Amino acid sequence: MAFATRHFVRAASSAAATASAKKLIVKHVTVIGGGLMGAGIAQVAAASGHTVVLVDQSDEILKKSAKGIEESLKRVTKKKFADKPEAGAEFIEKTLKNLTTSTDAVAVVHSTDLVIEAIVENQEIKKELFKRLDKFAPEHTIFASNTSSLQITQLANSTTRQDRFGGLHFFNPVPMMKLVEVIKTPMTSQKTFESLVDFSKAVGKSPVSCKDTPGFIVNRLLVPYMMEAVRLFERGTCWDIDFREYGGSSLFIKLSIFSLGDASKEDIDVAMKLGAGYPMGPFELLDYVGLDTSKYIIDGWHSLEPNNPLFAPSPLLNKLVEEKKLGKKTGEGFYKYK
Ligand code: NAI
Repeated sequence: MAFATRHFVRAASSAAATASAKKLIVKHVTVIGGGLMGAGIAQVAAASGHTVVLVDQSDEILKKSAKGIEESLKRVTKKKFADKPEAGAEFIEKTLKNLTTSTDAVAVVHSTDLVIEAIVENQEIKKELFKRLDKFAPEHTIFASNTSSLQITQLANSTTRQDRFGGLHFFNPVPMMKLVEVIKTPMTSQKTFESLVDFSKAVGKSPVSCKDTPGFIVNRLLVPYMMEAVRLFERGTCWDIDFREYGGSSLFIKLSIFSLGDASKEDIDVAMKLGAGYPMGPFELLDYVGLDTSKYIIDGWHSLEPNNPLFAPSPLLNKLVEEKKLGKKTGEGFYKYK
């Protein structure tokens, strides 16, 4: 029995060693999309010693991303190397050395181990990108999407590497937030899944795993909560004033007044911070995430489950997005930012 146990342990550990030997150790990463998320992902990957290329549509956007990364690195360094400014400066220099930018994704994926996509939350645009890159990336390269709401399986199906495709869902702000949700579709190989878990740990994050289910873990709970806050605020009568010119004078007047909802957005935010201990209120969080991203998520889920009241769209959110008030990134959302 003792022999059998020892033998089993030896066999199991050698099997584990073989499995982990097969795992891909990611050294070179291509991040597509240099916005809020992509820039953060590129930063943490470069800071942890990976060679990173950050791709976006124009040099102007990439300049803005690079500036944001540098500023973020300075903030991180100030905390991390409070007593050692020289070590901090060296850390920034090393990180920036690991990072380059490009506007040509096809040209840079030929030597990459991992492509992380963080572009606009639109299924067709993402599929088109993955389909194109699939033709140019090496055989071993793993593709991952940072999507918040789209099905990873659908995106994987636009490529021929469904087994080397998974979700890597980072959180905003990436340099601060510890969590990564690693998403395994029914086609994701164990080797790919483990490589993504290892990569998440290598960039200093704590990975959790989830199947390819709408919203994964965090957003499935968080988005309905934020939408319910908007409904609480917008509940009531919405009025407008409409003057129509007729023969030179205003003839038709439709009087409308916007009445306050069940609670103000300021009070809802204060309530959730002080009453539930949340670090941000739901409106602050919506502005932080981006109202366009939030609208896209809820619209997608609503089309999947139109009768689910948790996924009902909000007229107020739609109006703000239409007015290009997208939150912090545009200077105004539910709140105004200087
Ligand atoms: P963002 O709007 O800040 O950035 C998207 C970037 O992608 C833009 O710079 C845009 O120019 C670029 N882009 C668009 N199409 C492109 C293409 N074909 N090739 C190269 N670049 C392209 O968006 P954000 O917030 O960074 O979101 C990106 C992704 O991350 C989305 O899928 C979103 O669902 C997801 N996500 C967002 C979070 C958030 O809090 N904002 C949190 C977690 C995930």
